[in-house]
Amino acid sequence: MQKMSPKVLVTRKLPAAVEARLSERYDVRLNPDDRPLKRAQLSAAMAHYDALVSTVSDKLDASVLQAPQRRVRMIANVGVGFSNIDMDAARIVNISVSNTPDVLTEATADIALLLILASTRRTSAAETKLRQGHWRGFSVVDYLGSSVQGKILGIIGMGRIGRATARRAHFGLGMQVVFYSRTPFADPTEELGYPARQVDSIDALMATADVVSVHVPGGRAGPLISARHIAQMKPSGYLINTARGDSIDQDALVAALVGGRIAGAGLDVYAHEPTVPDALLQLDNVTLLPHMGSATAEVRTAMGMLAVDNLDGFFDGSGPVNQVL
Ligand code: DGY
Repeated sequence: MQKMSPKVLVTRKLPAAVEARLSERYDVRLNPDDRPLKRAQLSAAMAHYDALVSTVSDKLDASVLQAPQRRVRMIANVGVGFSNIDMDAARIVNISVSNTPDVLTEATADIALLLILASTRRTSAAETKLRQGHWRGFSVVDYLGSSVQGKILGIIGMGRIGRATARRAHFGLGMQVVFYSRTPFADPTEELGYPARQVDSIDALMATADVVSVHVPGGRAGPLISARHIAQMKPSGYLINTARGDSIDQDALVAALVGGRIAGAGLDVYAHEPTVPDALLQLDNVTLLPHMGSATAEVRTAMGMLAVDNLDGFFDGSGPVNQVL
């Protein structure tokens, strides 16, 4: 008797080459309209498929993962982050989880750099005015931003993307690097290959940095960067987030921006995506992107292919290459 192919639900549209590869091996259900699935659809899918290929927009919480008559045994998440998945709940019901690290490091660091420059140079507000027909010609005093050369970039989370961002900012923009990491570096300058200083608390980093860039995983019980931390930033400081929106107390950040207590922000991620607080949309000292850190054709294809490698590893018995659970 011919062996049945595992049934796989792909929750969102993926690059064509990735979908073609999935279709070759699996009994696959694709999402050609790319509409995010509702909680009830995700819960129902748990009983019908052997695996999910999911991503950040799928909230796989305990009630979904522990749906009755669960059949799903493997979740191949497309993304380095997996805070959309309740890992404790997945562990209890013995679901294997994988992610897609490395392939998106450089692209995400590029967007962090872009946000550093766009927010300090106020390009979003300037471009919006130009597009609205309000540009009256060159002015010596319009759109004055802040120079970054020689200023201090504070990195929170010195993992792969934090390092790639710091390297770009140091060598490309001439910024000084300080960082906060739970992992102690014996000699940061030696390890990173350029002068860099580790600080021992987020408080110290917030008070020191001219630009703070966040590179920590989300999914904690509360935001790592609290209202107290934001209050410690310099009035001339900028906050950049390309990691996860729930890592920062978003209400406190909005209040600091609205009240002019910090100079600006560059955000690619939000606490309750796709909702972006109205107050942010009104501000001209923020640059707002729609969670697109890894959005290049090459990288999104590589992420999808890695997710398929992980799925293949699971069903071959060799194990997912990037197993996180
Ligand atoms: C990631 O890889 O974590 C991106 O944010 C997309 O999920």
